[in-house]
Amino acid sequence: MTVGILTSGGDAPGMNSAVRAAFRSLKMREPEREILFFREGFRGLARRLDSASDRNVDRRAVRDIIHRGGTFLGTGRVPELRLPEGDPPDLDERLAARDAFLRVAVANLYQMQVDNLIVIGGDGSFRGATLIADTFRATFPRRPFRVVGIPASIDNDIHGTQYSIGFDTALNNVVDAIRKIRDTVESHKRAIILEVMGNTSGWLALQSAIAGGAAVVAIPEVAATYDHDRIIQRLVAGVRRDYRYFIIVVAEGVHKRAGADWSQRLSDRIEADRAIREALGGPMEVRINSVGHLARGGSPSALDNTLAGLLGAAAADVIQLGGIEGEAQVAGDAVVGCRGPYPVVTSLAEVVANSPRLVTESSPLFQLSEKLMLQAEQPF
Ligand code: F6P
Repeated sequence: MTVGILTSGGDAPGMNSAVRAAFRSLKMREPEREILFFREGFRGLARRLDSASDRNVDRRAVRDIIHRGGTFLGTGRVPELRLPEGDPPDLDERLAARDAFLRVAVANLYQMQVDNLIVIGGDGSFRGATLIADTFRATFPRRPFRVVGIPASIDNDIHGTQYSIGFDTALNNVVDAIRKIRDTVESHKRAIILEVMGNTSGWLALQSAIAGGAAVVAIPEVAATYDHDRIIQRLVAGVRRDYRYFIIVVAEGVHKRAGADWSQRLSDRIEADRAIREALGGPMEVRINSVGHLARGGSPSALDNTLAGLLGAAAADVIQLGGIEGEAQVAGDAVVGCRGPYPVVTSLAEVVANSPRLVTESSPLFQLSEKLMLQAEQPF
């Protein structure tokens, strides 16, 4: 039987290393085991594989990719697999499109004799993988089929793993951007609003703000953090304590919750604020910048490549040994993750039910941000 491998959702640096590690570990134990690469995420499942290199992958296919960002397999999101929340008027059409996609995908997997599918991606990809696995088993109840997920997302919001592949690289990219921006902001004595990816969860914004020494961080999970009055109060307290420039990091998801013009409105308020003007003897200029997709690019960090290796090899263990080498076997669809330098396995259903993992006010990192960043009252 055959193992299929694909990368899905937003690309994350280290995905290539995960493919390489899974491939090499599988082949190390079973050199004859057939491995198929599917291109462009789940979309690739709906296409018959006609390229000889995808059907007959040999070890050269994973050479010279470990240092490359992005994913050499290509990635994407399949809108058919994602139903909008609520009760959309075209629900019937959407359900029909989803069923049509799933029918083709599982028929292809069946014909290509895939009994294990490694899905490297984030929580949206794991939801898609659940649909595919359920449809496969309902359609071909006698054929074994298992999904093994490898968490890869710069959002680091997947349950069942301490870190997902790509987060460390993205974090370093954003901290690098903050350091560069600090040079110019400090020289001009301005405030900068720096927009950082993180649609649902604010881990990347929060951790980069902590590591980059930002004055303020706004994340979608904690409404108080994106309250303009509260931010202004803190900036006023800052200028009164002789701060002359500010770095404000905001996660993308805040704009979804508080309006697309959140940054502009904050900028206008800072520039117009009387108390800030009085303390500075004139207005404080503000600039808005976005790190955007730059956070996702570039060579994977050493930590991401190591993690990707660990998790790729753990996925091979689950497929070939039924669990992490030397540990208990686990049945059914699974996701491999890490606790420190140790691989762990969690059921796919549990991971999907608890993802995205969100920042809460009691998260130690959030508490830390409150200690390190500007406060309205600061007794020192
Ligand atoms: O990689 C996950 C993520 O960074 C989300 O935080 C963000 O909303 C999304 O990707 C944007 O990606 P794209 O522009 O590829 O849709």
